[in-house]
Amino acid sequence: MRTPVIAANWKMNKTQAAARQFLADFLPRVAGLEGVELIICPPFTALAAVAEGLRGSRVGLGAQNMSEKDPGAYTGEVAGEMLVEAGCRYVILGHSERRHIYGETDQLVGAKVRTAVRHGLIPILCIGETLEEREAGKTDAVNRRQLLAGLEGLTAGEVAGAIIAYEPVWAIGTGKNCDPGEAQRTIAAVRAMVAEAFGADAAARVRIQYGGSVKPGNIGSYMAQPDIDGALVGGASLDPASFAEICAAAR
Ligand code: G3H
Repeated sequence: MRTPVIAANWKMNKTQAAARQFLADFLPRVAGLEGVELIICPPFTALAAVAEGLRGSRVGLGAQNMSEKDPGAYTGEVAGEMLVEAGCRYVILGHSERRHIYGETDQLVGAKVRTAVRHGLIPILCIGETLEEREAGKTDAVNRRQLLAGLEGLTAGEVAGAIIAYEPVWAIGTGKNCDPGEAQRTIAAVRAMVAEAFGADAAARVRIQYGGSVKPGNIGSYMAQPDIDGALVGGASLDPASFAEICAAAR
């Protein structure tokens, strides 16, 4: 009942020219693909070029971050309405690189999620533990803390329409992907937390992705898990052939 969703997080990669080149190669490869929702999240500076390139396709546009504030004197920030105007339907929030490199707190991420939802954007809320937290047996506790703060103030209906990405920090960009069975266990636990806080219907409808070293060779083993509804893909989304292969395997 949940449509799989595959999102490309290009992180701080690709100029507008490189983004256009990617789309020229990628879009024909996924033109006939049905039964899977596809999203590309370029850097802010390439949003307009990618929006233009995606016109007429079924691939959606997302941003990688946004401000929790309304427009005003916030140098360097980007407001929700600006993303909507640029053609975004989605926004990645609370990515571990934002949390760990730029110090975003659980509370700030929650405020960003609320602002995104207020603007009609679909948040892709990222959660996940570090290696140290995993080794200390804190995986579920960390996910619970980040999840509940990230979804605070949302209605059950808004949670049902959101996307959650479980990304163990130690699996991001390292080539060490999380064992699919363990990802399933962790994501099922996250779904149970959603049920506890927002009810069974929201838990049954919310889509939960896995992220961390997803590649064409391992996407199938994640999609085979009952609670994993897709993937948030970093490195392998930069190459049109690899990303198209991942998208095709996700149906
Ligand atoms: O948002 C994507 C994740 O950080 C995963 O990145 O696929 O390069 O490991 P990766």
